[in-house]
Amino acid sequence: MIKMHKLVLLVAALATISSTNAAASGAVRMQLMHIDARRGLTPHDLLHRMAQRSRLSQVASVPITPGKLNNGVPDTEYLAHLSIGTPAQPVQLTLDSGSDLIWTQCLPCVSCFHQALPIFNTSLSSTFTELPCSSAACQDLPATSCRAGGSSKAGDQEPCRYGYSYGDGSLTYGRLVADTFAFAGGAAVPVMAFGCGLNNTGIFKSNETGIVGFGRGPLSLPSQLKVDNFSYCFTDITGSAPSPVLLGVPPNVFSRDHSAVHTTPFIQNPARPSLYYLYLKGITVGSTMLPIPESRFALTNNGTGGTIIDSGTCMTMFPSDVYKLVHDAFIAQARLPVFNNATATTPLCFTSPPGTKPKVPRLILHFDGATLDLPRENYMFELQDAGVSITCLAVNSGGAMTIIGNYQQQNMHVLYDLANNKLSFVPAQCDMV
Ligand SMILES: *[C@@H]1O[C@H](CO)[C@@H](O)[C@H](O)[C@H]1NC(C)=O
Ligand SMILES: *[C@@H]1O[C@H](CO)[C@@H](O)[C@H](O)[C@H]1NC(C)=O
Ligand SMILES: *[C@@H]1O[C@H](CO)[C@@H](O)[C@H](O)[C@H]1NC(C)=O
Ligand SMILES: *[C@@H]1O[C@H](CO)[C@@H](O)[C@H](O)[C@H]1NC(C)=O
Ligand SMILES: *[C@@H]1O[C@H](CO)[C@@H](O)[C@H](O)[C@H]1NC(C)=O
Ligand SMILES: *[C@@H]1O[C@H](CO)[C@@H](O)[C@H](O)[C@H]1NC(C)=O
Repeated sequence: MIKMHKLVLLVAALATISSTNAAASGAVRMQLMHIDARRGLTPHDLLHRMAQRSRLSQVASVPITPGKLNNGVPDTEYLAHLSIGTPAQPVQLTLDSGSDLIWTQCLPCVSCFHQALPIFNTSLSSTFTELPCSSAACQDLPATSCRAGGSSKAGDQEPCRYGYSYGDGSLTYGRLVADTFAFAGGAAVPVMAFGCGLNNTGIFKSNETGIVGFGRGPLSLPSQLKVDNFSYCFTDITGSAPSPVLLGVPPNVFSRDHSAVHTTPFIQNPARPSLYYLYLKGITVGSTMLPIPESRFALTNNGTGGTIIDSGTCMTMFPSDVYKLVHDAFIAQARLPVFNNATATTPLCFTSPPGTKPKVPRLILHFDGATLDLPRENYMFELQDAGVSITCLAVNSGGAMTIIGNYQQQNMHVLYDLANNKLSFVPAQCDMV
């Protein structure tokens, strides 16, 4: 998922949450003041404590599992399992390298989507604190109540209310808070800033309780942990096997088969600094390099277009003209009966006799210095219909930007080397790592 900049809309809606939620938020704040008083923490102490956050002394490991599938069609995400508060309350958050904010649904909800786990109850945590408008974390947010109300000096100690939106239209409104995060294996971080989502709407079907941003901005999990790198390895999306996300990756992790490691630089886009842009140069379908000039995949001068890698999007999306070439090349080379003509919402599918997995053309993405020669299961998926097998291309038509989705990243170690500004990947059996 990609964060959107719909500030006007967000700020207008923030006014609603601040007024309609006044009574409920008053209760949260009273509870909070009580905790602060007991622990003798003033906002100043808290800010000081946040400023002193230091590097993790050990690797933080977060187990991830594939989210719920939607009737066999891959449109899911991977869920990161961690816990928040003292005592710890479990949360499961969509792993999203296309956004920054960490948030989970919180009581008292104004409007929450259904979640399997109990909703995070701030009142149960002795380490929970609210962050004021004056906090650095609040100022890192694109849309808050603080600036909407015109930030007066007196307003600065007001709680920080945020609005945050995603490319798929999902929205979360709530309060920016801080609490202890605990990871697998006992690593814990005493103060992490995150959103306490009170009004959350949109597409939340993966069994998540919120989203954990892994983007390049200051509020993301890797940024708050100040790690130099992180890696994930997505197990089969149709399965349920877990695998670890590592924050602070041991140096030897890729050493077993060095020749298979592909590395490509990240590109910075000042207009969208949170996103991990890559330099895509071309696409091969079967035996044909598609006739697309390299410049078609590049960022434009005004910061639109380009190619990103995103763990929170499932199927890879190409701009419509590029997608059409991929689509037509598959039809021309697969030489299989077409089940449907792809639309904005349905991928291209072919039919074949029941139980068969027809041969399909290869799909290769050429990056600057790296080649992603996708195994079949990373770009095709199978459905069974009455008396026929349906084989579909897990690639879609999207907006101006090319988005490399998680379906294309299954069973690969993906290393985001933030310190050296590059991405590496190597094939792996992710349920064995
Ligand atoms: C919750 O947010 C939605 C927009 O996503 C807005 O339409 C609605 O009014 C908000 N509800 C409340 C109670 O603030
Ligand atoms: C949240 O925790 C508080 C404090 O224990 C409790 O009084 C309240 O009932 C809890 N809320 C819910 C909805 O469970
Ligand atoms: C949803 O999450 C809950 C809590 O982790 C888990 O018990 C359940 O199996 C999950 N459901 C699906 C369909 O993945
Ligand atoms: C990740 O960063 C740490 C700390 O800088 C470094 O020691 C380690 O070698 C890095 N891991 C990889 C795989 O580059
Ligand atoms: C950005 O540039 C592209 C091509 O250079 C152009 O098609 C597009 O309209 C521009 N968008 C904006 C918002 O200026
Ligand atoms: C797909 O579109 C083509 C031309 O637009 C049409 O001839 C064909 O019948 C369509 N196929 C299906 C399965 O809808």
